[in-house]
Amino acid sequence: MSLNSFGHLFRFTTWGESHGPALGAVVDGCPPGVPLSEALIQPWLDKRRPGQNRNTTQRQEPDAVRILSGVFEGVTTGTSISLLIENTDQRSKDYGDIAQTFRPGHADLTYHLKYGVRDYRGGGRSSARETAARVAAGGVARQVLAALAPTVRITGYMVQMGEKRIDGSRFDWAEITRNDFWCPDPVAAAEWEDYLAWLRKDDHNSVGAMIEVVAEGVPPGLGAPIYGKLDSDLASAMMSINAVKGVEIGEGMAAAALTGRDNADEIFWENGRVGYGSNHAGGILGGISTGQPITVRFAVKPTSSILSPRRSIRLDGTPAEVVTKGRHDPCVGIRAVPVGEAMMALVLADHLLLDRGQTGGVRGRIG
Ligand SMILES: Cc1cc2nc3c(=O)[nH]c(=O)nc-3n(C[C@H](O)[C@H](O)[C@H](O)COP(=O)(O)O)c2cc1C
Repeated sequence: MSLNSFGHLFRFTTWGESHGPALGAVVDGCPPGVPLSEALIQPWLDKRRPGQNRNTTQRQEPDAVRILSGVFEGVTTGTSISLLIENTDQRSKDYGDIAQTFRPGHADLTYHLKYGVRDYRGGGRSSARETAARVAAGGVARQVLAALAPTVRITGYMVQMGEKRIDGSRFDWAEITRNDFWCPDPVAAAEWEDYLAWLRKDDHNSVGAMIEVVAEGVPPGLGAPIYGKLDSDLASAMMSINAVKGVEIGEGMAAAALTGRDNADEIFWENGRVGYGSNHAGGILGGISTGQPITVRFAVKPTSSILSPRRSIRLDGTPAEVVTKGRHDPCVGIRAVPVGEAMMALVLADHLLLDRGQTGGVRGRIG
């Protein structure tokens, strides 16, 4: 399979399958001298780790990361950084039934039609186990940002589960880490808890979600016109996450309903700095960061693996009824939050290096 790499100057490649011995990432293009250790990457993996509460899959994986190369005496050397995460809790017998059957909503059928062979155990390469490797690579990207653009702060959270949305008037940043859903609205989080318990236990069903990732403190000037747009790389990054079906930046799809008077963010010169009256643009104009918060939203589809029977076909074309057992996330949006944050960090680190390479910090002046 080709195309396992992402990024331009700060480029990472992931490898591995759900039920193989291990998975990981190789990060290339990381500047030298950046402080890096396993302890600096592990907290991000712990945030994504399965089996932490009853609202996510019960697969128990420590997701302990090992750095195999590219770091010497606590700092990056500028050579490729290899990251390894062992798989320890595979339960392949859960997947015996699907060797001959295609699970609706999964990649089983398309992999078979394209490659003629597939590792059916846990979905093989299509499994979201792969996202652990991205989160590890994202940990390296965060270190690059901390070293070169320390003002950047990336925060992801869930704003919608099924039809149940947060109430913006109750938005509380501190609340995000207090519940199992990375939800900034405590009332919505309590409601989601009951709803998900009912869905999982009584309705044998799953539900989709909307995640928002915000990057604050991003310097103006990241991104380039036309094919190097920061927004197109962010959209590509988020869309590459398993189960993502839609990506929006700033007003996103809602911009279609606005008028120009409402949408164009007014510009001011205040205390020697550029200021804006609003942020409908989501922090990006002409593919280049404005210095305002970069806001990305992505929609994830409901988990396809559910205990309710769904119709499908077998390898020989005969009809089959699929009930997906095994351990699954009832709402994949929850664990997609740290993955979205990692992709934001990876894109920003890449564009920071691209900007450094092309402009070397040259900037236009105002005032
Ligand atoms: C963090 C995360 C966890 C996921 N966990 C599951 C899961 O437990 N069960 C499942 O059916 N799908 C899960 N998915 C989604 C599947 O990996 C994905 O739907 C499937 O591979 C098909 O790919 P596609 O939806 O991108 O087309 C998860 C996705 C993410 C991002």
